[in-house]
Amino acid sequence: MPSLDQALRAALDNRQSLLEALHQQGTDCYRLFHGSQEGAAGLTLDRYGPQLLVQSFHNSLSRNELLAAHELICSALSQPLLLVYNDRSRGNSRIDRSDSVYQAEEPALADCVGHEWGINYRVRGRHAGQDPLLFLDLRNARGWVKASSAGKSVLNLFAYTCGVGLSAAAGGAREVVNLDFAEGNLAVGRENGALNPGLAPMQFIQSDYFPAIRQLAGLPIAQRRGQKLPSYPRLAQRQFDLVFLDPPAWAKSAFGTVDLLRDYQSLLKPAILATADDGVLVCCNNLAKVALSDWRDQVLRCAAKLGRPVRDVQLLPPAADFPSLDDQPPLKTLILRF
Ligand SMILES: C[S@@+](CC[C@H](N)C(=O)[O-])C[C@H]1O[C@@H](n2cnc3c(N)ncnc32)[C@H](O)[C@@H]1O
Repeated sequence: MPSLDQALRAALDNRQSLLEALHQQGTDCYRLFHGSQEGAAGLTLDRYGPQLLVQSFHNSLSRNELLAAHELICSALSQPLLLVYNDRSRGNSRIDRSDSVYQAEEPALADCVGHEWGINYRVRGRHAGQDPLLFLDLRNARGWVKASSAGKSVLNLFAYTCGVGLSAAAGGAREVVNLDFAEGNLAVGRENGALNPGLAPMQFIQSDYFPAIRQLAGLPIAQRRGQKLPSYPRLAQRQFDLVFLDPPAWAKSAFGTVDLLRDYQSLLKPAILATADDGVLVCCNNLAKVALSDWRDQVLRCAAKLGRPVRDVQLLPPAADFPSLDDQPPLKTLILRF
């Protein structure tokens, strides 16, 4: 078993050419160490602009390990990155132990700006939610969206902090609609919009996925017997040129359950219907235990059953900062052209 220092050095070596390319294209947000595949399960080191975000999910890092890792990364990148350590190994306790090395300094906890494909993003090493504000394994997909959105109407479903919407706007989309039920996440999306004043403004719909997408798709909204549904924004039926569907693994609401293992169809079907006849749907499944080939078959079957057979399907893997030994990364992204 290599030491953490050896594993980190190997990870940095493996990323040399990727990091050069990313810096050249205006990206300073990327994964520097993907522990599950690179020799320390449950440990990740991510750069978010000026910050180095270290997260441990199984075992806490010792003071010396943390300081040595920080020093190694800063010297490899020739950048004095601000250290934020979120130890999520004990029931998600974001520890701030009394030793100052575990307490990030004031500037490290401040709101910062990171960059990806030349776009500005709000980054915060520690905030009320669990995940960092930008999912790094989706960078290639956002790059694809930026390169493929010129003149298109774009619908970004489960938008979170609207990174996909922003990429579409940066790519020259004529209209971008972000949909999510969490106002706090959309608020970061609005901040992201404000951080890129040169881009056309985006739209934001705060709604549960199920009533929103079913209205867009022209489908009825199912009501459970005897249960009154909460109110939801009314939307007219319509289609978009490019639809992006990246749901969480599991989430339950009054309107339905998002369950990527047992029921992808109920998410996918209305999303297909909300995609224009000659449009593109990008869909994701981030559940590691779902095999790509099974999920791909399911997706294609669902489209065929709806009378919307897929003309072309393309797999869009994450970049090399998310290596996978078995070539089966948890995040699977398919581009479906109708
Ligand atoms: C994993 S994130 C999606 C990542 C996002 N696509 C991105 O580009 O970063 C999950 C998002 O789904 C939203 N969400 C979960 N269940 C939802 C529902 N039923 N309706 C609308 N949004 C939902 C959450 O608020 C959260 O922002």
